[in-house]
Amino acid sequence: MIVFDKVSKSYGDSVVIKELSFMIGKGELFVLIGASGCGKTTTMKMINRLIEPSSGKISIDSQDISFTDPVMLRRDIGYVIQQIGLFPHMTIEQNVALVPKLKNMNPAAYMKRVDELLNMVGLDPTLFKRRYPSELSGGQQQRVGVIRALAADPPIILMDEPFSALDPISREQLQDELTGLQKQIHKTIVFVTHDMDEALKIADRICMLKDGKIIQIGTPHELVNQPQNESVIDFIGRKRLQRNHSAYSGHTGG
Ligand SMILES: Nc1ncnc2c1ncn2[C@@H]1O[C@H](COP(=O)(O)OP(=O)(O)OP(=O)(O)O)[C@@H](O)[C@H]1O
Ligand SMILES: [Mg+2]
Repeated sequence: MIVFDKVSKSYGDSVVIKELSFMIGKGELFVLIGASGCGKTTTMKMINRLIEPSSGKISIDSQDISFTDPVMLRRDIGYVIQQIGLFPHMTIEQNVALVPKLKNMNPAAYMKRVDELLNMVGLDPTLFKRRYPSELSGGQQQRVGVIRALAADPPIILMDEPFSALDPISREQLQDELTGLQKQIHKTIVFVTHDMDEALKIADRICMLKDGKIIQIGTPHELVNQPQNESVIDFIGRKRLQRNHSAYSGHTGG
C-alpha cells in the first residue's frame, strides 16, 4: 500500500504539489489524470524518489520511503516512461533482463521469464529477442517497455503516459493487454494519463488533479455519476456524461 500524507512540492516560490493525501491499495490500478502541468509526473516521481517532496511523508507498506535507499527502492518499482527508454545498444532480451540481472537473480530463471513475458504481449521470442529497439515498431517498443518494468517482478509499477505515442488502434490494444495482464499479475500500478477515455477504461480508481491539488478521487463509475464540481465535469466532458447517464439506469442529471 502506498500512502501520501500531506505531501507538497515547491520550486522556489511556486508550489506545484499542494498537501496531497491519498492511499493506493495493494493490487490497485490507480490512474492520475489532469491537464498538462497539474503535477502528475511530479507526484509519480516522488514515489520512486526521482523527486523529493518539500514536506509531508510518503510510505510504502508502512515504511517511510525517505529512509529507503533510492537505488534499492527503484529496483522494487518498475517504471515505464513516455519515451519508452529502451537502451538502443542492447538487444530486446538484454533490455528486459536488465533489472533481474542487477538484482542478481538466477540467469536461467530470468531468461525463461523474458520468453514468457514476450509471449504474453504477443511478441515471438525467437523473432524478437536478438533484435535491437530500432528494429521494432513504436508499438512493439512500447510493449517491451511494459514487460521490462515487469521482468524483476516488482510489487509496484509506475507508468507515465506509456501509450501516448501510439495510434488509437495500437493504443486500445495495449490498454486491453494491460488490463488482461493485470488480472493475472495483480500489481499495484500507478498510471498517468491525460486521456479520460483511457482512464475510464483501465482504472480501478481515478485521482483527478488540478493545479497540484486533488479535485476528486473515485471509481470510474463514481466520477461519471457523481462528478464533484465543474472542473471534473469539464474534464469528463458533458457529452460523455449525458451518454453515460443514459447508459447507467437509475442515475439522472449532473
Ligand atoms: N524542475 C522544476 N522546476 C520548476 N518547476 C517545475 C520543475 N519541474 C516541474 N515543474 C513545474 O511543476 C508543475 C507540474 O509539472 P509535472 O511535470 O508534474 O506536470 P504534469 O501533470 O506531468 O504535466 P504533463 O501532462 O504536461 O506531463 C508544472 O507547472 C511544471 O512547470
Ligand atoms: Mg507529465
